[in-house]
Amino acid sequence: MSLKTEIQPERLPKHIAIIMDGNGRWAAQRSQERSLGHEQGAVAVRQTVEAAAELGIQFLTLYAFSTENWNRPKEEIDALMKLLVHSIHNETPTLMENNIRLRAIGDLDRLDIKTREILNGSIEKTSQNTRTTLVLALSYSARWEITEAVKKIANAVRQDQISVDEISTKTVSEALNTTFMPSPDLLIRTGGEHRISNFLLWQLAYTELYFTDVLWPDFNKEKLYKALVNYQKRERRFGRTSQQLEPIQ
Ligand code: IPE
Ligand code: IPE
Ligand code: MG
Repeated sequence: MSLKTEIQPERLPKHIAIIMDGNGRWAAQRSQERSLGHEQGAVAVRQTVEAAAELGIQFLTLYAFSTENWNRPKEEIDALMKLLVHSIHNETPTLMENNIRLRAIGDLDRLDIKTREILNGSIEKTSQNTRTTLVLALSYSARWEITEAVKKIANAVRQDQISVDEISTKTVSEALNTTFMPSPDLLIRTGGEHRISNFLLWQLAYTELYFTDVLWPDFNKEKLYKALVNYQKRERRFGRTSQQLEPIQ
């Protein structure tokens, strides 16, 4: 029986973020090129987005390409970018049908012009959709994002738009790329590594972390349900005591 029946709809996370890792190892296990793992990874993306939308998850952020991934061999980067263009092009009609809005975070200026055009076209086309927001983290790293935010705030101070004493956690949050979304409630990392790899360092402050050995191409709806059932068993205290939480549960 599907684990979906065990999910409590009133306790769903608003925002799920995923580090989609393990494509290369999935391909290596089959003596195939890494690019085949990425292609199969795109199938897992489709399943996951569909499941999240069906459940009514408001934000789904997928770490698709990190700043550090630019250091991979050129052939792999080219294959990934080609797959990205192809997937966005092919999936935009499905995003429209399913009322899903696409957004992107990261240093998008580093993407080539064709990739940027396709991406911006899809973002524009889906901008009025309201069911779920799918955020692609592309050429993204949290240290890059925080550094950009610091520059923005420093400029605002220089131009007397804000004083140093007025800078608050809200000022920082609003200067980040992610200002349009709430912090993730749940972070899933596939592929067995227990690390954050420069993803959403500011935003993950109180996020529940879920690590699974499943390689990303093997991830699917049922694996997402499993993560959600696990998430719903946790008590999120945000620094308080259990007793303090009881009345609001
Ligand atoms: C994740 O899979 C996809 C990207 C980082 C683009 P990997 O390509 O990192 O796969 P592994 O970790 O080498 O198995
Ligand atoms: C993290 O995976 C980045 C993405 C999933 C896009 P990596 O495979 O790049 O991370 P490390 O190198 O194992 O930390
Ligand atoms: Mg990896």
